[in-house]
Amino acid sequence: MTKRRPLVAGNWKMNGSRTESAALLDGIKKGMSSASKAEVAVCPPYILIPLAAEKLVGSAVAWGGQNLSAHESGAYTGEISGPMLRDYGCTYVIVGHSERRTLYGENDAMVAEKYGAAQAVGLIPILCVGETLQEREVNRTEAVVARQLDVVLGKHGIGSFRNAVVAYEPVWAIGTGKTATPRQAQDVHRFIRSRLAARDKTVAESTRILYGGSMKGGNAGELLTQPDIDGGLIGGASLQAEEFLTICRAAD
Ligand code: 13P
Repeated sequence: MTKRRPLVAGNWKMNGSRTESAALLDGIKKGMSSASKAEVAVCPPYILIPLAAEKLVGSAVAWGGQNLSAHESGAYTGEISGPMLRDYGCTYVIVGHSERRTLYGENDAMVAEKYGAAQAVGLIPILCVGETLQEREVNRTEAVVARQLDVVLGKHGIGSFRNAVVAYEPVWAIGTGKTATPRQAQDVHRFIRSRLAARDKTVAESTRILYGGSMKGGNAGELLTQPDIDGGLIGGASLQAEEFLTICRAAD
């Protein structure tokens, strides 16, 4: 039987004023049961991370970044490094989100560098993979996900997945209200785990693979009961405490 602890992580993207975010953090903290089996984390915009740290310290909710620089420090205007995120108590950092890949030109090699930079300072990378609609329509889903995984595996090895989380986020399901069916998601999750298992079965069995893409309170249950879906990476629905908490409870 699986011993993977479910993880529900909120990716706030570029949303929230200081006041709204304080209320959201308070709401999540208040609604979290201390007996929660699932691990819960939020990833606010950089500038709100100190607020998250202040509000969540000592609670059951962890926090993380949405991105990081591949460099530790230096002349990189506008960037935030892994050591800075650690300094503010981050546990996680999202790497390779499809919005970073498509809007900011992050390729597989850059994503692999960021993954390594995160682990070098003890952050747990949440490595995002996923195909576009066009790639799915021409049956390239597995090829795309395999390529995205293999670049990281090639550079950092299977052992690095002991301290990493994978998130399968089909690009066509992100922010569209179009969720992958439980079957579609499970098929890709199983494929991802088998890709890891080909290198090391034990690591593959312990690696958490999250689903992301229009997950909400209403559809979380059926997705989260799939055998290879170990939690969710939540965008829009993580901006409302009650909706996010409903997903967290479904993961329990
Ligand atoms: P939505 O839940 O808004 O579709 O976003 C998913 C996502 O991109 C999480 O990283």
